[in-house]
Amino acid sequence: MSEQLDRDDIVTNPSGNRHLRDVVAADVSRRHVLGGSLGVAAVAFLAGAPAAQASPPAATTTDVVAGKGGRRRPLMGFAAIPVSTDDDVHVPEGYTADVLIPWGTPVHSDGPRWKKNASNSSREQAVQVGYNHDGQHFFPFDTRGRMKSRGGRHDDHGAGLLVLNNEYTDPSLLTTDGMEKVTLEKVRKHQHAVGVTVIAIEQKKDGGWTHTDSAFNRRVHANTPVVFSGPAARDPRLQAKTPSRGTMANCAMGDTPWGTYVTCEENWADYFGSADTAHTPTEEEKRYGIEPGASFYSWEKADARFDTDKDPNEQYRWGWCVEIDPFDPDHTPVKRTALGRVKHENAHFSTSRGRVVAYTGDDQNGEYIYKFVSRRPWRVARGMGRSPLDEGTLYVAKFHEDGTGTWLPLVFGQGPLTEKNGWKDQGDVLVRTRRAADAVGATPMDRPEWIKENPLTGQLYVTLTNGTSGPTPANPREKNVYGHILRWTERHDDKTGTEFDWDIFVLAGDPTKDPAVDINGDAFGSPDGLYFDPEGRLWIATDVSNSKQLLKEYENLGNNAMLCADPRTREIRRFLTGPKGAEITGITGTADRRNLFVNIQHPGEATKAIGEPTPAAPQAVSSWPDHDPAGRPRSATVVIRRKDGGIVGT
Ligand code: FEO
Ligand code: CA
Ligand code: CA
Repeated sequence: MSEQLDRDDIVTNPSGNRHLRDVVAADVSRRHVLGGSLGVAAVAFLAGAPAAQASPPAATTTDVVAGKGGRRRPLMGFAAIPVSTDDDVHVPEGYTADVLIPWGTPVHSDGPRWKKNASNSSREQAVQVGYNHDGQHFFPFDTRGRMKSRGGRHDDHGAGLLVLNNEYTDPSLLTTDGMEKVTLEKVRKHQHAVGVTVIAIEQKKDGGWTHTDSAFNRRVHANTPVVFSGPAARDPRLQAKTPSRGTMANCAMGDTPWGTYVTCEENWADYFGSADTAHTPTEEEKRYGIEPGASFYSWEKADARFDTDKDPNEQYRWGWCVEIDPFDPDHTPVKRTALGRVKHENAHFSTSRGRVVAYTGDDQNGEYIYKFVSRRPWRVARGMGRSPLDEGTLYVAKFHEDGTGTWLPLVFGQGPLTEKNGWKDQGDVLVRTRRAADAVGATPMDRPEWIKENPLTGQLYVTLTNGTSGPTPANPREKNVYGHILRWTERHDDKTGTEFDWDIFVLAGDPTKDPAVDINGDAFGSPDGLYFDPEGRLWIATDVSNSKQLLKEYENLGNNAMLCADPRTREIRRFLTGPKGAEITGITGTADRRNLFVNIQHPGEATKAIGEPTPAAPQAVSSWPDHDPAGRPRSATVVIRRKDGGIVGT
């Protein structure tokens, strides 16, 4: 739903945190010479040049990997593909893209079949693969064994659990007659179609993949019982009228060093509304974008839990990172409050000095980038029977104009987060994470989406998909319709520290329309999903809003795509193009680099340039992947392989 996706563009950050352009202007007025402490990024910004062109490649990255006999070969060997506007998935010559687990696939083989007129009940949806596949991770069946041995076999790719988020639903496609008439049964079906799907998959003799039965297969959805942990768990605002249930708006995710899955709640605010259109939003509702009147999804019309008048506290149970143990089908998902309450895109887990570090972006125009550092080494915490994600420090990023940055702690009693300033305790700081970040002076960013780490260098990359936070050195375009990718290195290679150095990896876009675009290779816009494979190839997925796709700035860029980048040379090649109305997301792979799993999300969604699906014409935009005249589009995973069994991307 393009209307839905564009809601991320709305700014609900009123903090007035000083824009870096003001800082820079002040600096310029009192300096004669630019240099010295002013880094390359800022110099380029001040000179009006794209920062990425001015900054040299990081010396520590490598664009080649050792081949047989000590020879070195380039990271990328495939021939780039052109943009596409048709209704299929395209990959380079010599590759295959096979569809796996589309929406509605029964998670157990004896479960209810998917009905192509969308007449499955809410009860049936609860045991079928969810809607709108997003972030995902593949856990080989020997995951826990690998954790113990700290090594890992490279032949472990043949079977495991695919754990994926199902981000949101399409009211015109999920049920036979749409949502014009709202019933509790329909709302329940929507609630059971979001959340997380855990499903076993295995590689067949012919190299293709199939889903299989396993004791671990299950759905976690908006009505699954959940518990809270960490400093905000007992905050009175989390005590709502009904028992705590569910996760939804599950955008992307992370996998922890101890082999669990953390799903991130992003656009949860769009599910809360009020029957009373005169409802006056509270300050927190305004800050998180809950609007008075009917919500986008209309759940509150049949389920009082989502009516902000009937239960003003339920909203505080959303916006968290939620840990799920995929290898324990009875595990109750845990909302880890220490990681903050925002609109989390993903959570990238790393380790440093034995601690676990979780990076997460808050995807809305003008919001911030965060990291959590565990108090103890994660193995020590787990040895004590505690979660490493329950005790630690949450930080928010400030990007300085000289190419350096600082992680600012969000700790009750420190800086402005005092009782005198109205803060009650650490739970309060976490429930009102955005306010706390406003107070310490974090840097507003152009919609932070995925954060991922180059496994060869430890550098962190973030997609800033588009926005209007700038112009600042970190967000150099005033009206950033194309987005950019920024990266940083933690000082002294210590991810638990508070200083870092950053530069801009690429300013995306169509160079024929914007001279600032500095892509070395194929054009793309609105970067979103990221994945580094074990050899250091950076895979980039795009999510151009369906209100902009194929129009104006985006008229030459075709459907959403996945590209491959060499982090050192910055060369970028288009590898995959998607069907109509879809975004590409959820890139992950097997350890042997021979299989990539990619999600095709929301094919057939309303697209301004093409049309709008309705219950009477569900295929008005797309019929992917089934292309069945009596069916409807469905999101699905595709498995990318080289036909000769080689490493994907070479
Ligand atoms: Fe769910 Fe920001 O993408
Ligand atoms: Ca995304
Ligand atoms: Ca996006």
